[in-house]
Amino acid sequence: MEATKKTEEEGNENAEKVVEEEEFSASEIEYVSYGGEHHLPLIMGLVDSELSEPYSIFTYRYFVYLWPQLSFLAFHRGKCVGTVVCKMGEHRNTFRGYIAMLVVIKPYRGKGIATELVTRSIQVMMESGCEEVTLEAEVTNKGALALYGRLGFVRAKRLFRYYLNGVDAFRLKLLFPSPMSQSSLPIVADTDGSHWHNDHIPIEECSENTDILYLSVVIFNIKSI
Ligand SMILES: CC(C)(COP(=O)(O)OP(=O)(O)OC[C@H]1O[C@@H](n2cnc3c(N)ncnc32)[C@H](O)[C@@H]1OP(=O)(O)O)[C@@H](O)C(=O)NCCC(=O)NCCS
Repeated sequence: MEATKKTEEEGNENAEKVVEEEEFSASEIEYVSYGGEHHLPLIMGLVDSELSEPYSIFTYRYFVYLWPQLSFLAFHRGKCVGTVVCKMGEHRNTFRGYIAMLVVIKPYRGKGIATELVTRSIQVMMESGCEEVTLEAEVTNKGALALYGRLGFVRAKRLFRYYLNGVDAFRLKLLFPSPMSQSSLPIVADTDGSHWHNDHIPIEECSENTDILYLSVVIFNIKSI
């Protein structure tokens, strides 16, 4: 039994190596928005295997049934290699988007797939009238923090022991320019200043993004993504 398991594991590792070694061009990756129940097991499989937080099927359904247009999947030769799951709605007088889950499987990382998935969701949020986008990421998740930092997200808050595994989270935020303010950048657009006061981040832990937070609001330039 053990031997069989080991052989299977070796098989999986080899399969990953084959993909790693095999060059694929970005144009081979196909992006589709959530298309129905047949996509659900693909999303769940990816998220369950890569994110620390466990989600029930009800959570997945909540997102993809209510906001199917905000969830995307990436396929390579028929295989699902990445996904993003989001929602949007009113929050304290602001219409905002929220990125709930983002995963790209290991052999496909570093090729811009997560950036493309997130960009597609953000584009729909923007077109739907969202004023901002938020999400949480583990403070230890360097990859995700770098990715969202590149897209213009800033650290709005540190949430103590936010995850079930006991790790703190950063709440990241991206503001879209309001139609009134686009001509006079940069602006201070957040009416709820408490979002922006970060009690929890010691100054030495602040990244360049956090510094920006104290100076001005970073405006998301959709043309750059
Ligand atoms: C985080 C994750 C989604 C990134 O996916 P990806 O497809 O590799 O991301 P991209 O190729 O679009 O990366 C874009 C940029 O993000 C940054 N980045 C991504 N992963 C990084 C890493 N591990 N270390 C440092 N920077 C990283 C880089 O700046 C990168 O640009 P570059 O390759 O030109 O330097 C992927 O690593 C993953 O699925 N991780 C596990 C699940 C997870 O942590 N999800 C996020 C929860 S908030």
